[in-house]
Amino acid sequence: MIKKAVIPAAGLGTRFLPATKAQPKEMLPIIDTPVIQYVVQECVDSGIEDILIISGKGKRSIEDHFDRSPELDRILSEKDEILYNQLRHIENMANIHFVRQKELNGLGDAIRHAQYHCANEAFAVLLGDTVIDSVIPATRRLIDVYEQYHQCVIGVEEVEPDEVSRYGIVGGSWLSGDIMQLDRLVEKPERGAAPSNFAIAGRYILTPSVFDAIEHTERGKNNEIQLTDALRLILERENIVAATIEGKRHDLGNKLDFLKTTVEFALKRDEFAEPLRAFLRSLILDK
Ligand code: G1P
Repeated sequence: MIKKAVIPAAGLGTRFLPATKAQPKEMLPIIDTPVIQYVVQECVDSGIEDILIISGKGKRSIEDHFDRSPELDRILSEKDEILYNQLRHIENMANIHFVRQKELNGLGDAIRHAQYHCANEAFAVLLGDTVIDSVIPATRRLIDVYEQYHQCVIGVEEVEPDEVSRYGIVGGSWLSGDIMQLDRLVEKPERGAAPSNFAIAGRYILTPSVFDAIEHTERGKNNEIQLTDALRLILERENIVAATIEGKRHDLGNKLDFLKTTVEFALKRDEFAEPLRAFLRSLILDK
């Protein structure tokens, strides 16, 4: 049983400057909902309600978002029942804990901060700037794979050959159409040096052995402690599987992805679908 999830959310969000100069990238809204709320919802939909957010400098608004807001509650309880219930839902959706990463030393170092919370059991990791839109929640799928194999499970997605240097890339042999037994892991390889086109998609199930591996991981790409490098150390002693992610991954740290996601998600909302579709059509016809 996987009962805990860790959401690293301490990064600076430099790819989204200047919007992220004074606000966390995880709080950027897709229409009216901050990115990290979708990620927390994925945990809840996957059966996890104990969530540790790795926060950092300038990230206080994430804590406030999941906290109670008595002022708003008071005003809305009289004025707008729907919105009131929405806010109460956010306050109660999960048991959320926070720990601060004091220095930004990479994703591996961020995960190290979960050691106290997750020392004795496998746990899920969901990157706080990545939303995966799928019928079966991506984390639920990885949990199911973990329950079958009892090894670390990495969610992966096939990417274009010219994109491999943006991701951690896995290599190995396919056990079935969607599960790969890993024999290689490389963080952001040069094009041509990648063992496959399957990229780490920001969702993992990790066993507690990751903490010892992180302790022994030297600084890698960008002079940071990389989670991918720690997983490579685990691979020397334990098996790791990768499972392909179903559904669509949205990298909300990327401006174009953010725009596309906003449009896609708005088109799925009844109140926006029709006027937005008409607007988009008029823009295209004007061209
Ligand atoms: C991180 C991981 C990388 C993974 C990527 C997915 O990189 O280190 O292995 O493929 O997330 O988004 P980052 O995007 O933080 O540089």
